[in-house]
Amino acid sequence: MTDDILIRGGLLVTDQNSRRADLLCHDGRIAAIGETLEAPAGATIIDAGGCLVMPGGVDPHTHMQLPMMGTVVADDFFTGTAAAAAGGTTTILDFVGPDRAQSPLDALAVWHERARQATIDYGFHMTVSWWGDRFSSEMASLVHDHGVTSFKFFLAYKGGLMLPDEDILAAFLRCRELGALPQMHAENGELIAYLQAKLRTEGVLSPKGHALSRPSQCEGEATGRAITMAEIVDVPLYVVHVSTAEAAEAIAKAQSRGVRVIGETLPGFLAIDDSVYSNPDFDIAAGHVMSPPYRPAGHPEALWRAVETGVLSITGTDHCCFTRAQKRLGADDFTKIPNGCGGVEDRMNMLWELGVRTGRLSPERFVALTSANAARIFNLWPRKGALQVGADADIAIFDPARGKTIQAATQHQNTDFSVWEGRRIAGSVVHTLAGGRHVWADGDLRAKPGSGRYLARQPFGAVYGGAGTSRN
Ligand code: URP
Ligand code: ZN
Ligand code: ZN
Repeated sequence: MTDDILIRGGLLVTDQNSRRADLLCHDGRIAAIGETLEAPAGATIIDAGGCLVMPGGVDPHTHMQLPMMGTVVADDFFTGTAAAAAGGTTTILDFVGPDRAQSPLDALAVWHERARQATIDYGFHMTVSWWGDRFSSEMASLVHDHGVTSFKFFLAYKGGLMLPDEDILAAFLRCRELGALPQMHAENGELIAYLQAKLRTEGVLSPKGHALSRPSQCEGEATGRAITMAEIVDVPLYVVHVSTAEAAEAIAKAQSRGVRVIGETLPGFLAIDDSVYSNPDFDIAAGHVMSPPYRPAGHPEALWRAVETGVLSITGTDHCCFTRAQKRLGADDFTKIPNGCGGVEDRMNMLWELGVRTGRLSPERFVALTSANAARIFNLWPRKGALQVGADADIAIFDPARGKTIQAATQHQNTDFSVWEGRRIAGSVVHTLAGGRHVWADGDLRAKPGSGRYLARQPFGAVYGGAGTSRN
C-alpha cells in the first residue's frame, strides 16, 4: 500500500494530447483523472499549478554496475535508479551481459540479484555476447519464462563482443521464431580495429584517437548492413544509440520502403560534438569517451531532423558512467579508456531544454520520445508511458520555470563527471512518483533501495503486427 496522492491543477500531457485535470494515485496506480477531484482523507496533495504532469520516463538503454574494460560501471542499481528518479525517469531497461560462454540464464540471475537494489521498476534486454546452440536454446526460456524479449548484438568490439555476420543472421532468425526484438550496436568493428592499430603506430594515444578510430562511415555501413540482414530475415530491428547522419539516413530509407526499423538516439548526440576530444584536460576529453563517440559538427543537426520527422523515435541514455579515476585507466592509450558516459538523471530535463524550449518538439512529442514510444515498442504500454486509469502511478511533474545548472558536484549519479557540466536549463522535473511513491519531492530524493519491481515483458506479436511509435 502507498499513500493516496492527489496531483492538482497541472496540465496532463501524453503522447496524444494535453488537458488540464487533476490526477489521483491510489495503491500504486492511477485511480482517477478528472477536472476537479476531491482529495481522499489523509491524501498528500501536490500542487502542480504551472507544471506539466507527464508519464514517468522510460529509459530503454542503461548499464548499471556493468563490468567493463577492467572496471565496473560506477552506478549500481540503487544509485543509478535513484538518479533516474531525480530526473523523472521511473523505468529503466538494462542490458544483461553474459561473459564469454556463460549461460545467459545464469547471467540473468546475476543481474536479478544486483537489481534487487533498484528504486524504480526495471526490465532487461540480453546482450548476445557469444553465439552457439546453448545460447539459442536458452533464448526460448528467456523470452517465454523470464520476460526478456529483446537481444542486443554488436558489430563492433573486435575480439570481444563483436559477432560475425553468420552468427548474427542465425540469431536474427531465432529472434524471429521467438517474437523477440533484435537490437544492434552498429559500428564496423573490423575497420575500427584497423584504425586503432594504425593510430597507435602513428603515436596517437590521446582521447582524440577514440573519435578518429571510429569515423561516422563505420556507423553508416554497419547500420545499413544490420538493416539489410533484418530485412532479408524479415524481423524488426531496433538500432541503439544512433549518432550519425549516415545511420539516420539508412534508417529513414529503410522505413520509407516499409522495413520495421526503430531508431534510438541520446540527448547528448543532439547537442555535443567531437570538439570535446580536443580538450587539453584529459579528464574532460576522456569523460566523453563512449561508443559510438560524439560526432563532428553537422551530425547533431542531422539527428535533430531525424527526430523531428519521427525517423528516430526513442531517446535513451546508454547510461554507463565512470569516474574520472576510472577513465584514467586509459591515460596512456585511448583504447583502454572505459567506454561510456552517464545521463540517466538529466535525459528528460535536457531533452526539454534542447527540444521543447527551442520549439523543435511539442510537449506531446516530448512524451512520445521520453516514455510512450519506448513503452509501446518494449510491450510495457499502457502500464508505462501513459496517463490513464489503471496505469502505474509513474509520473514526472515538470516545472518549465524551475531552472538549474547541471553540475557533477550536485548530481545524484555516482560519478564526478557530467557531459552537461555547467549547462543552465530553464525548467526541470520537480516531483517524481514511482509506483505511487513520492520519490523526488522538490529537491528531496526519497528513493529507497529495493522498491523497484521487475518487469517481465511479452514477446513482440504486437510489434510484428505493425504497431508503431507515435509521431505527434
Ligand atoms: O560506450 C558505451 N556505449 N558503453 C556501453 C556499452 C554500449 O555499447 O552500449
Ligand atoms: Zn552499444
Ligand atoms: Zn549501451
